[in-house]
Amino acid sequence: MLQFEILKNPNPMPETDRAKAFENLGFGTLFSDHMSVIHWSAEKGWHSAKVTARAPFALDPASSVLHYAQEIFEGMKAYRAADGQIVLFRPEENARRFNASARRLAMPELPEEDFLAAIEKLVALDSAWVPGGEGSLYLRPFMFASEAFLGVRPSREYIFCVIASPVGPYFKGGAKPVKIWVSEDYSRAAVGGTGAAKCGGNYAASLLAQAEATQHGCDQVLFLDAAERKWIEELGGMNIFFVLDDGSIITPPLGTILPGITRNSIMTLAADNNITVHERPYSFEELQADLSSGRLVEAFACGTAAVVAGIGELKHGNGSLTIGSGEIGPVTKLLREKLIGIQKQDLADTHGWLRRIAV
Ligand code: PLP
Ligand code: COI
Repeated sequence: MLQFEILKNPNPMPETDRAKAFENLGFGTLFSDHMSVIHWSAEKGWHSAKVTARAPFALDPASSVLHYAQEIFEGMKAYRAADGQIVLFRPEENARRFNASARRLAMPELPEEDFLAAIEKLVALDSAWVPGGEGSLYLRPFMFASEAFLGVRPSREYIFCVIASPVGPYFKGGAKPVKIWVSEDYSRAAVGGTGAAKCGGNYAASLLAQAEATQHGCDQVLFLDAAERKWIEELGGMNIFFVLDDGSIITPPLGTILPGITRNSIMTLAADNNITVHERPYSFEELQADLSSGRLVEAFACGTAAVVAGIGELKHGNGSLTIGSGEIGPVTKLLREKLIGIQKQDLADTHGWLRRIAV
């Protein structure tokens, strides 16, 4: 296990400035005082682990991440309970998915215990940055290729880093249902591609489709499968669920989508609450038929950043479709409350999903 050097920021943000910034938290604009950094090289493996003052990197212009986009990341949150306790939600799952992404991008795997230590030590040092109430501290572990070399092959040097950002709601509308744009021109991932990995390139490829969604007054883009342009996959940054009138729920199967930790947790919470989960392909055609017949009554997006967000409307090239009443439905509300209840420690953690941070 790596030993971390702890180098405290000599100029942390004054408490009063932080309190002021906490009054109006958005998403991903404010950053804590420190960051964790670990280096890797083909000769030394993982080395030089530290938690240090958050600061820019000096990168050689030939660093391979700048040319061939060898980069992966994760997203997770630290939550503060009413009694002040700080917890992480299923961070071991992020560690595992990070290494799955690393394998797909031909990058070195970081031992799970070192990934977790980098996060826990950062949150412990920046514990004052974990907001209470509806806020949380969003943690962004990432790794990029730092070798200065222009040939196309896996880099022989990497930097792993974790930064932290106190956040409020991802969607500006707060608890209002979101609008989704169905992209018929662009796809996110193909079979054999990187859809199941959390690599920066997937997000770069989604931005034009997301811009189209924004132009149509929507919050997120929904991608269909690349081969047939038929099967519903996921949103630009979230997984998707549908609720039928018999109370069961449908979510697209894994393969070309990101295996969301929230998605997996929702499936477990649904089972706990006697809600049948169908993990199966669902086509946009079937969705339209189910809306016409009244069989499809609710839809929601889920992910670390968005938590659980009700979907009120789907827009596409030929018009717009209202989901159910257009308001947030009871099944969406129930699953959202169960999930947040565990994360905020208001409900019992019956699945052992929380990991306490000692501060
Ligand atoms: N799908 C995509 C493309 C994402 O970026 C995310 C967010 O991380 C998710 C799904 C949801 O994953 P998780 O619930 O692990 O945050
Ligand atoms: C996350 O939920 O962690 C993501 O990466 C999604 C992104 C939209 C912020």
